[in-house]
Amino acid sequence: MISRTTASECYVYITLPGETEFVTVGKFELTTNRQGNPAGKFVYGRSYLARDNAVPIDPIELKLSTKTYETNILKGVFGALRDASPDYWGRRVIEKYKGQTQLGEIDYLLYSPDDRAGALGFGLNQEPPAPSRKFNQTMELERLQELADLIITDEDLPEGPEAEQAQKLMVGGTSMGGARPKAIIEDESGLWIAKLRHPEDKWNDARVEHAMLMLARECGLQVAESKVVTIGERDAVLVKRFDREKTTAGYRRGRMLSALTLLRSDENYQAREKWSYVLLVEELRRISSQPRTDAPELFRRMCFNALISNTDDHPRNHAVVAMNTDWKLSPAYDLTPSTPVSAERRDLALDCGDWGRYAHAENLLSQSARFLLEQDEAKIIIDEMEQSVRSKWYDIARREGVTEKDCEKIASAFAYPGFRLEIPARL
Ligand SMILES: Nc1ncnc2c1ncn2[C@@H]1O[C@H](COP(=O)(O)OP(=O)(O)OP(=O)(O)O)[C@@H](O)[C@H]1O
Ligand SMILES: [Mg+2]
Repeated sequence: MISRTTASECYVYITLPGETEFVTVGKFELTTNRQGNPAGKFVYGRSYLARDNAVPIDPIELKLSTKTYETNILKGVFGALRDASPDYWGRRVIEKYKGQTQLGEIDYLLYSPDDRAGALGFGLNQEPPAPSRKFNQTMELERLQELADLIITDEDLPEGPEAEQAQKLMVGGTSMGGARPKAIIEDESGLWIAKLRHPEDKWNDARVEHAMLMLARECGLQVAESKVVTIGERDAVLVKRFDREKTTAGYRRGRMLSALTLLRSDENYQAREKWSYVLLVEELRRISSQPRTDAPELFRRMCFNALISNTDDHPRNHAVVAMNTDWKLSPAYDLTPSTPVSAERRDLALDCGDWGRYAHAENLLSQSARFLLEQDEAKIIIDEMEQSVRSKWYDIARREGVTEKDCEKIASAFAYPGFRLEIPARL
């Protein structure tokens, strides 16, 4: 077997609050411990610690300190760094362009461009690179969708003079997480995530996702801005990035941590014990500068997910963001309905109360105090949200261009019967 050398250490950079250029934060090293498991080490640079505007890259796990931090979870990649690393889709694009599948975790950090989620960057030089100012433009979406199609079906990518341009187009955006094909697009107002079509989509995902974000907004949630653009005959949903702010000097960047990181959890099966809204709200109350706003907001999102059968509400679909020094729950994103066969019991990806993951009104209510809500307040939220979802989903979906046929396909997602079934004493 050919063994390939992969990078085992890199520098970590950050764009500090209010700034638009990187400074070097510290060094990350990935090694193997005595048991043969990946072990990550991170140390802040002394000159970074000496800055009076230095901020931690993770205020819980990686506080500003001269110590060497170590981790064994998440393949040795600290959550704050993993959150800045590509996921399924980005890894697939990088592997395709590099013609390699056995890349190391640091390679994925290094090969993905600087438009990643959050305020961090990575490189092999102690000196950070200048910020990238070139982003894909909306008019390039058609070409991006064509390239994404080739990657999905594992076809050959363009060769010759076109190859370089294609690579530049497609690799931009790989550093965002998630499984769906996507790209980063710039317009005069800032940066957007364009979520492209996948041939296995069961309905027009772009329009449905946009409609769900609109429905969530009308149910009183804080939601990322979105719009649908039509490319040729296909639609893509554009979601405005809440971790970037366009200024005349360039882009300001917010730090971002996923709920997976806040829960100190992993994506493997055993680690799923920690996948819980109830545990998450405890962490959120610890990190948030506005717990009285954010804890009830998380409660509303959990209820909304239960009411649209968003069973893909996994911990990378929740995040906290710090545009300045304060951390807050990010706006809601990636809200998608699902239509499981069972009309009796649907489970969210995270535990939501005393009855585990069961998307059920009583279950949601059972731990509402942890979300800083009185029982009667929580009950009103659930009742009103159920009423709103039931009465509004169809009109909003149609208004946002979801076809009658697609509405039929998604109808069973909303306020499903099991939400109010009598819960058996023991599940
Ligand atoms: N509006 C936004 N601003 C900044 N970052 C975002 C935004 N929306 C999503 N993200 C980040 O990008 C990642 C991927 O986005 P998203 O979850 O929408 O994609 P996806 O491919 O549908 O994900 P999944 O794999 O959960 O289906 C998220 O996990 C989050 O870190
Ligand atoms: Mg997602």
